[in-house]
Amino acid sequence: MTTSKVFTNWDDTHSALWGHQPIELAHEMHKSPLFSRDHLARLIENYPREHYSLVKTGARGSERVWREGDIGDLSGEQVIDAISRGGLWLNMRDVGAVDRRYREMLNGMFEEVGARVPGFSARDHQESILVSSPDAQVYYHFDLPGQALVQIAGRKRVFVYPDTAPFLTPTLLEDVAVYNVEVDIPYEPWYDRHAKVFDIGPGQMLNWQLNAPHRVENLDTFSVSMTVSYTNDTIRRAEIVNLGNGLLRHRFGYQPRSRNSRGPSYFAKAVLQKLLRDSRWVKRERNARRVIDFRLDANEPGRIVDLPKAA
Ligand SMILES: [Fe+2]
Repeated sequence: MTTSKVFTNWDDTHSALWGHQPIELAHEMHKSPLFSRDHLARLIENYPREHYSLVKTGARGSERVWREGDIGDLSGEQVIDAISRGGLWLNMRDVGAVDRRYREMLNGMFEEVGARVPGFSARDHQESILVSSPDAQVYYHFDLPGQALVQIAGRKRVFVYPDTAPFLTPTLLEDVAVYNVEVDIPYEPWYDRHAKVFDIGPGQMLNWQLNAPHRVENLDTFSVSMTVSYTNDTIRRAEIVNLGNGLLRHRFGYQPRSRNSRGPSYFAKAVLQKLLRDSRWVKRERNARRVIDFRLDANEPGRIVDLPKAA
């Protein structure tokens, strides 16, 4: 018998489905004082620059926009106010490293999952807090690590797509492993007919199978959620194969044939990726794709100011 502090409706179907299909679960994490408005405001205004992304996206149905910016000299409360007016989201990445109480909360969550799903462990996890506008959306993408989306405040509609072609292909997996840019992958509106769709609010969370593409629309409410990435040996192996195959293809023009994550070709790729992962080539490719080009305006909540382009 395991005591439950995080999950309130876990049953045998969740144990059977975890990691294989998208599932919705009830949780208690939204009740933590760590998510009070005051606490979030303090967290925002003290958040290390290298750990957050502020993103401006287009309104739903309009042309696709993706710009990264800076909170400037706004207080946390002013940032929340600006975001609640529209068109923005703030991702406080790796919040568990900035304040370990968030990490401990997720340790507790994964302990409960491990007690209920035979063979599952999250050897490592990284959590982020996403604060987003009523009209914000996250475009179609997938993530390399395992994912859980924990809703704290406000409501979202989440579309989760199959992890098979045409929604997800080996080439897409490899490109994302190499470039670490998740949003530039093909999406067609008709994909939605093949998605599982969840409307989630405070106290609800989602998990889905590894790499399943997804996209998110806020349901006209200011939203706070926690996005959780986790990894274990199985996930790590898959990631190494994707990066190794991607590097072979991009760097050497070689079309990988094997997606086997065991045996000699796996180990050859593991060695290759070790040599190249931190190479200047990969880092240069990644940095070239992230440019900060606006900041928030303290005098006019919700307004953004363009930053001069770096030479
Ligand atoms: Fe994601």
